[in-house]
Amino acid sequence: MNEKWWKEAVVYEIYPASFQDSNGDGKGDLRGILSRLDYLKELGVDVLWLCPIYESPEADNGYDISDYYAINPAFGTMADFDELVEEAHKRGLKIMMDLVLNHTSDQHPWFKESRSSKDNPKRDYYYWRPGQNGLFPNNWESYFSGSVWELDKQTDEYYMHLYSVHQPDLNWNNAEMVNELYRMIRWWLAKGVDGFRFDAIAHIVKAAGLPNADNPEHLPVVQAYQLFSNLEKVHDMLKKLNEEVLIEYDIMTVGETSGLGPEQALEYVGDERHELNMVFQFEHMYLDAARPGTGKWEPRAWTVMELKKVLSRWQTTLHGRGWNANYLGNHDQPRPVSRFGNDTVYRVESAKLLATLLFTLEGTPYLYQGEEIGMTNARFPSIHDYRDIETLNYYEQAKLQGMSEQQILEAVWRKSRDNARTPMQWDASASAGFTTGVPWIKLHPNHEDINVTQALQDPNSILHYYRALIRLRNENKVLVYGDYKLLLPLDPQLYVYTRTLGEEKVLVLLNFSGHEASFAWPEDLQEQTKELMLANYKGESDEDGQTLPLRPYEARLYRIHS
Ligand code: NOJ
Repeated sequence: MNEKWWKEAVVYEIYPASFQDSNGDGKGDLRGILSRLDYLKELGVDVLWLCPIYESPEADNGYDISDYYAINPAFGTMADFDELVEEAHKRGLKIMMDLVLNHTSDQHPWFKESRSSKDNPKRDYYYWRPGQNGLFPNNWESYFSGSVWELDKQTDEYYMHLYSVHQPDLNWNNAEMVNELYRMIRWWLAKGVDGFRFDAIAHIVKAAGLPNADNPEHLPVVQAYQLFSNLEKVHDMLKKLNEEVLIEYDIMTVGETSGLGPEQALEYVGDERHELNMVFQFEHMYLDAARPGTGKWEPRAWTVMELKKVLSRWQTTLHGRGWNANYLGNHDQPRPVSRFGNDTVYRVESAKLLATLLFTLEGTPYLYQGEEIGMTNARFPSIHDYRDIETLNYYEQAKLQGMSEQQILEAVWRKSRDNARTPMQWDASASAGFTTGVPWIKLHPNHEDINVTQALQDPNSILHYYRALIRLRNENKVLVYGDYKLLLPLDPQLYVYTRTLGEEKVLVLLNFSGHEASFAWPEDLQEQTKELMLANYKGESDEDGQTLPLRPYEARLYRIHS
């Protein structure tokens, strides 16, 4: 298999507002990140993915960019950014920027011009349409609730926004606009950044004619993802972006592409496609939701069998043909330990089990700040404690639909993006070492027990386990490039697989449950010598060579010698 640095790298996602504040304004910033570079280096990660740090009115925490060429003053200055790149590089760390190319802020000068009159030269940079008999131009539903269309009084036409009303969608059919984006991307590359995460890239092309989605129930708006996701022309756009801009650089790219399976993902990441190195897929993120998109708020029971099935399909379909990006959490998702593990009785064990999974699958692992200390979902008592625009829009809609406060809050506790956006917990002090001021969003009260300082002191902490896993991955190419094979697909508790590269074989054994379990060694492995590489419990379990009893959320990693 083609070896690449970005296949071997471990990526750490930083949500700058919540990582480390340096000036006491209650919000994280670039100098804060600078002060934590050594911590990140010691953790063993290679690439820092910075969520957007550009100038922005922050309707969606920076995913609404008003100037692609400027740093949000709340995060610092361009000089701070340059210093961050330099200091990161000195330590062998790379910087990956988060680029939002599907939309801008409604405060971006392009949009201000575009909305000013129907014949403004930048009108066509965005999607403008007249209403249909006093109704929206079509029936598409926004990711953040309501219609994707907003009426602009100035010209009495609607503009499209797949996300909030403050995030108008850019029109990629306009070559001049696309050239402006190219120019901007070249500018960041010239600064020495090492890669990009392309936000919402699956949506940059919409179905020709912007047709209505099927709507048998005649609702005002309906989910219409198939009409603006992963359309054929997205690939033309990405090919061109590579040919015109990216090809000269040894960078890494990952695209956010919801709504696809692994076969379709190959259209982006297939070795011969030259579009993206990897994509973030969402199939495992939908397992606990009634439907994707706005349906995410309605719960659905997920099973370990389903999780194995989804991840295994991605592993085997992409093997040798493309490359996976693996993640269990990020700034848009609940905390993995609260979602896929157990954040009360078995928090430490299950966080370690999830880490074992993340670092032993084929693909580049992406971990999100705080996962390495097992941070848990926030459970704020009032909607007033929440800051996320998606959560607040959902709250309004759910109220209108007659849901009770309690019902809404329960959905929010499970799924709000703010679950992952509480400040990083550095120590047990009143502000968790995050700020000397008042944090922009409340801290999780459990920071007194769950924090980096505590974790560094405890040799059995989740943090030390992460370090050990990252070291193992670096030392064993079989964990990066090895062929994945699922064992026991129908076992409802155990997730077991092997990774094989030439003569090397590793077996990953995960008891994905809060109950004891027993693993019977398959016959072909019974006679072989098994060397324990890492485990999340101390002490050997009783082994008779044939069956292995496993404790709740026990994770074990074996090297199999033939
Ligand atoms: C995906 C980003 O991860 C999310 O935070 C943002 O709200 C949307 N894209 C819109 O940019």
